[in-house]
Amino acid sequence: MEVRILKKHEQAPMNLLLLADPSRKIVEEYLTRGACYVAETNGDTVGVYVLLPTRPETIELINIAVAEEQHGKGIGKQLVIDAIKKAKDKGCKTMEVGTGNSSIGQLALYQKCGFRISGIDKDFFTRHYAEEIFENGIQCKDMIRLSQDL
Ligand code: COA
Repeated sequence: MEVRILKKHEQAPMNLLLLADPSRKIVEEYLTRGACYVAETNGDTVGVYVLLPTRPETIELINIAVAEEQHGKGIGKQLVIDAIKKAKDKGCKTMEVGTGNSSIGQLALYQKCGFRISGIDKDFFTRHYAEEIFENGIQCKDMIRLSQDL
């Protein structure tokens, strides 16, 4: 698997990006501000993530997603590790990530990759998303913020 930055003229893999965030409007807005990375195997795009500079020396990992038929094979973890390496190479000192209170697997993945919970953005999803989101039988209401020092 090779991870590379998406070139300016290339289309972002919207089908994958929308797995991580159901709002096309929000995804498109992030793409204008962040750098999109794609993971490819034999020419197929199997994963994606976006790195968004937020504050000095701080970068946020957003929109990480793996093609559904490839879930559970370790690709997501490889992408998080790759994103951490790219952020360090850019000279960043802190990496942040956010996920829903209902995203049990994602919370596990991020903590296994060294992130610790830093805060809760209460009602983030109920304020910013028109549709209700349910995962694992839990309504997604709050954004769990996680971070790690690089
Ligand atoms: N409890 C404990 N650990 C769990 C878990 C659970 N419920 N669900 C996942 N994990 C762990 C796995 O065991 C694995 O850790 P390990 O390598 O130590 O065993 C780790 O989380 C990730 O597994 P991996 O196979 O690398 O993940 P993946 O390739 O399936 O990708 C996502 C993970 C989240 C990127 C993928 O599910 C996805 O694309 N989801 C849709 C988009 C999305 O939700 N993006 C995140 C938005 S915040």
